Amino acid sequence: MSSSRDISGGKAPAFIDTTDTLFGHPKGLLILFFTEMWERFSYYGMRGILVLFLVSETKGGYGWTEEEALGLYGIYTALVYLMAIPGGIVADRLLGQKKAVIAGGFTLVAGHLLMAYPPEWAFYSALGLIIIGTGMLKPNISTMVGGLYREGDSRRDSGFTIFYMGINLGALLASLIVGYVGETYGWHKGFSLAGFGMVLGQIVFIGGRKYLRGVGNLERDNHLSAEESRNRIFTKEEEVKRTGFLGFDKQEWDRIIVILLSFIIVLIFWASFEQAGGLMNLYALNYTDRVVLGWEIPASWLQGLNAFFILTTGGIVAAVWVKLAKAGKNPPSIFKMGLGTAILGVGFIFMVGASMERNASAENLSSLHWLIFAYLFHTLGELALSPVSLSFITKVAPKRIVASMMGLYFAVTGLGNYVASWIGIWAQRLGELEIFTYIAGFTIFIGIILMVLTRKINKLTHGYEDKKEEERDAQTGQLLEAEAK
Ligand code: GLN
Ligand code: ALA
Repeated sequence: MSSSRDISGGKAPAFIDTTDTLFGHPKGLLILFFTEMWERFSYYGMRGILVLFLVSETKGGYGWTEEEALGLYGIYTALVYLMAIPGGIVADRLLGQKKAVIAGGFTLVAGHLLMAYPPEWAFYSALGLIIIGTGMLKPNISTMVGGLYREGDSRRDSGFTIFYMGINLGALLASLIVGYVGETYGWHKGFSLAGFGMVLGQIVFIGGRKYLRGVGNLERDNHLSAEESRNRIFTKEEEVKRTGFLGFDKQEWDRIIVILLSFIIVLIFWASFEQAGGLMNLYALNYTDRVVLGWEIPASWLQGLNAFFILTTGGIVAAVWVKLAKAGKNPPSIFKMGLGTAILGVGFIFMVGASMERNASAENLSSLHWLIFAYLFHTLGELALSPVSLSFITKVAPKRIVASMMGLYFAVTGLGNYVASWIGIWAQRLGELEIFTYIAGFTIFIGIILMVLTRKINKLTHGYEDKKEEERDAQTGQLLEAEAK
C-alpha cells in the first residue's frame, strides 16, 4: 500500500474496531442497546406511574388534583428533553459522549433510587436529578450509536433501528412490570424497581466499555491513539474550518441548516404523534368499545401497542432499508422523514373513521380495531422517521457539534410534546372528528411536500449523508497536497 493510500484512509482508523461484529453489527451496539433499554425502562416506568401516584390517595400517593398532577407531568417531560441541549454541549466541549453517559447514568441511579423515598423533598430532588441525568445520557448515547459506524456505512440506519428496539423493549417491559408493581404493591415500590433497572443499565455500560473503545471520546482524546496520518488530516481539517462565521465554513453552515430544516418536520411529527398519551388515550377510555370475549381491556394497555408494534415491525423496516441500500436505492433520510410523517397521517385517517363510526352509533362508541390500526400506522411512521433522524444527525452534523445537535433534536421533540398537549385542548373545543381530520390532512400534505422536495433540500448535505470516508479523506488529502506545494 502506498503512503498516499494510507492517508486516504482506505482502512478503518485504529481506534474504531470494525471487525468485532455480532449479527453483522459492531458489538458495541449491543452494549448501547442494553444500556438504553434499562435507562428507558426506568424512564418510562417512572413516567408511567407518576401521574397515577400524584393523584392517588392510597399506597403512598400524594392525593393531588388531576390538574396539578398533569401540570407537573407536562413540565417534567418538557424539561427532561430540554436538558438534552446542555447535555450535548457538555459532551462536545468537556467530557466526550462516553464520560457524559457515565456521569448521567450515576445521576439517574441516584435520582430514581431517591424516588423510592416518600418525603416531598426527596421527590423534588429526585425529579431534578432525573432531569439532569437524562439530559446527560439520552442525546449522548444516541450520538455514540452513530460513532460505531464509519461514514458511508449503510448499516448505520439499521443500527439505529435496532437501538430503537432496545428503547421500546425497555418501554414495554416498564409499562407491564413497573405499572403492575406500583399499582399493586405501592407507588414507591414501583419507583425502586425503576431505579433497580437503571442500576443494571449502568453496570452494562461500564462493564461493556471495552467494546466502545474509540467511540464517544473527545476528538483530542482520540488523537492520542489515532493513526498518525489520520491525525494530521483531522487536525488540518479543523484548522481550515475554524475560519468561517462562528467557526463554520459555508459548507458546514449548509449542513447545519438542513438539520434545522428537518427539525421542522420533527416538531410536526411529535406534536401529532404524542396525542397517544393524551387525546387518543382519552378516546380509548371514553369512546371505544374495549370489550373482547366478555372482558374489558384497560385503556392504558393500548398505550403499550406502540412499543409492541415497534418490536414486531422494527426488524422488517430495518431489513427493507438494508435491501434498498444493497440495490443502491436507499432513499435519503429527508425522504424517509417525509414518508414517516405521511404514514403517521394515514394512521389518523383511522381515527377519523373511528370518530365517524362513533357519531353514527347509538352507544356513542367505536370499535377497537380503529385504534389498533391507528397505532400500527403511527408506529410505522415513527420507525421511518425517528431512528432515521438520529442517524441523519450523526452523519450530517459537523463532527465537533454532533452531540449538541442531538441535544437540540431531543429538545425539539420535547417541544412537540408540549404542542401536542395544546392540540389536545383544541380538540375539546372543535371535537375529535375535526381535529383528527386536520391532523391527517396536514401531516400527509407536509410529508408529501418533503418527499417531492427531497432532492433540492438534500443538496445542502453536500453528500455527507452517504459519502464514503475514503472519498472525503481523498479530498482532504488533495487539499493538503495543494497546500504543501
Ligand atoms: N420514544 C423514543 C424514546 O424515548 C423517542 C422519543 C423522542 O424522540 N422524544 O427514545
Ligand atoms: N415509541 C417510543 C420510543 O421509541 C416509546 O421510545
